[in-house]
Amino acid sequence: MTIISPSLLACDFLNIQSELNAFDNIDNIWFHLDIMDGHFVPNLTFGPPIIELIIKYSKHKCDAHFMVTNPEFYSDLLKGKGLYNFTFHFEAIASPIKYIQTLKNNFPSIGISIKPNTIVSELSDELLKLIDVVLVMSVEPGFGGQAFIENTFTKIIELKLRREKLKSNFQIQIDGGVNDKNAHDLIKIGADNLVAGSYIFKNNPVDYAKAISSIR
Ligand code: DX5
Ligand code: ZN
Repeated sequence: MTIISPSLLACDFLNIQSELNAFDNIDNIWFHLDIMDGHFVPNLTFGPPIIELIIKYSKHKCDAHFMVTNPEFYSDLLKGKGLYNFTFHFEAIASPIKYIQTLKNNFPSIGISIKPNTIVSELSDELLKLIDVVLVMSVEPGFGGQAFIENTFTKIIELKLRREKLKSNFQIQIDGGVNDKNAHDLIKIGADNLVAGSYIFKNNPVDYAKAISSIR
């Protein structure tokens, strides 16, 4: 079943416990935590103390997406704290393979993210064999609520072909502008994990379970 990752960027942060609890009875959910440093992207969100609290008070796996210039700072602070998936940006790290090898000692699942202008062929075979998740950004990272960029479809097809050729088994995760209109096609061509912020949390009337099943 497709994993749906509600992006907490769009939730009501002052009532986060009840926001988290609203997903207790829904299966195959990862909570998506968007970490922005005001440098790799212009926006700023939250860091390790808040991440640790979300991990502690949520019933689902936590998936942190680091839109930061220095992911090593965060992986050092967060090791052993129960974070399930650690995703960093390909554009931020000079030697991603070496970095993934160190992350593997500390996190069950490792993701690498590419921005809309980074092409799939920049990801080496060696990297795609090591990684657990490839997060394809379908908007420019930094803000929720943006329109989906259509070239994402081509990237999913390319990644799926590479995965078959390499006999590897990374998940293809899509992040940005996902809604009930594009989700069907995304899943059909090979997306395994869809991040959705605005579509889930800003839905009217607010019914998270319904929003998730309409994406699935
Ligand atoms: C954007 C973030 C996304 C964002 C998605 O930089 O990485 O996770 O929250 O939000 P929506 O679903 O509103 O595009
Ligand atoms: Zn994200």
